[in-house]
Amino acid sequence: PRVAVVFGGRNSEHAVSLMGAGSVLEAIDKSKYEVIPIGIAQDGRWVLAASGQRFAIEEGELPEVDTSGAALALPSGEGTLVAYDAGSIPVELGSVDVVFPVMHGPFAEDGTIQGLLEMAGVRYVGSGVLASAVGMDKAYMKTVMAAAGLPVGRHVVVRDRDWRLDRERVLKEAEGLGWPVFVKPARAGSSQGISKAHDRAALEEAVEVARRHDPKVLIEAAIAGREIECAVLESFDDEPPGASMPGEVKIEGGQEFFDFEAKYYPDQMSLTVPADLPAEVAEQVRAMAVRAFEALECEGLARVDFFYTPEGTLVLNEINTMPGFTSLSVAPQLWAASGLSYPDLVDRLVQLALR
Ligand code: DAL
Ligand code: MG
Repeated sequence: PRVAVVFGGRNSEHAVSLMGAGSVLEAIDKSKYEVIPIGIAQDGRWVLAASGQRFAIEEGELPEVDTSGAALALPSGEGTLVAYDAGSIPVELGSVDVVFPVMHGPFAEDGTIQGLLEMAGVRYVGSGVLASAVGMDKAYMKTVMAAAGLPVGRHVVVRDRDWRLDRERVLKEAEGLGWPVFVKPARAGSSQGISKAHDRAALEEAVEVARRHDPKVLIEAAIAGREIECAVLESFDDEPPGASMPGEVKIEGGQEFFDFEAKYYPDQMSLTVPADLPAEVAEQVRAMAVRAFEALECEGLARVDFFYTPEGTLVLNEINTMPGFTSLSVAPQLWAASGLSYPDLVDRLVQLALR
């Protein structure tokens, strides 16, 4: 089968996507699949990956899609790809059997590319339009999780109109959450645009920062607790989805929370698998992760993030329908520790999509 590995994207997790795609391209079985690497540039252009495409952070420099590759038309009927060479002569690349969108954030993990692929009639790895869209929007995600009986944290949703016309009410409601609070763009990832605010002035500033990513913002009560993450994978046949062992992530770089640097620069974060938890709590994490996956009707994979509080309760923080996907990222590491190696995980996801 022909697999298009698509990376980059028009959003602030562009570089994170490249890091993941670099790992996928390395690990995917080239004797089994014909692999076509495709980049989506920051400006939305699709290109065949240039031969010199860099995927890793080098000397602190984030990778980005190299637009010197041949321009590509969007996939059309049955996943047909057309590239244009330097003379703008169209070159038929034929069709692809499956797209692996190793991308995160808006226009990537939010149902938009999934919708495009549905329209083109091409199969793809991961969740469909609805699950992707709901998973991306932290406000709707919490609504759906709560409706499924899963515990979510206290929060205030700040829509553009609320902030412009009714700021006093928003600030009052937010103060009711207690200090500090976390302020997040509703639709972003990798901690982009997130700040921790300890007072009203910092909160106002934090909302403005988050609004640069998304006019819709979430203010969340800070939850004291250990950060426990669990990965979920769809099963073949009619088996229920499976959960990995839970892991615990800790900040090692002195940051106040898991900001972008803590997540992506070397040695800033540690992962312990399995997390040191009482057996019944670990089971509860796994059951809740599966319930979250099913509540959104996810496909393929997801990573579900929890807080384990000193009182011994679990709070669901979020679900990621295309979690960070380098071979060293949390979800792949959780699966590796649970007995599924990274190349096998990649293969499994492609096979699930091809069914
Ligand atoms: N949004 C990043 C990629 C994650 O959740 O892992
Ligand atoms: Mg996330």
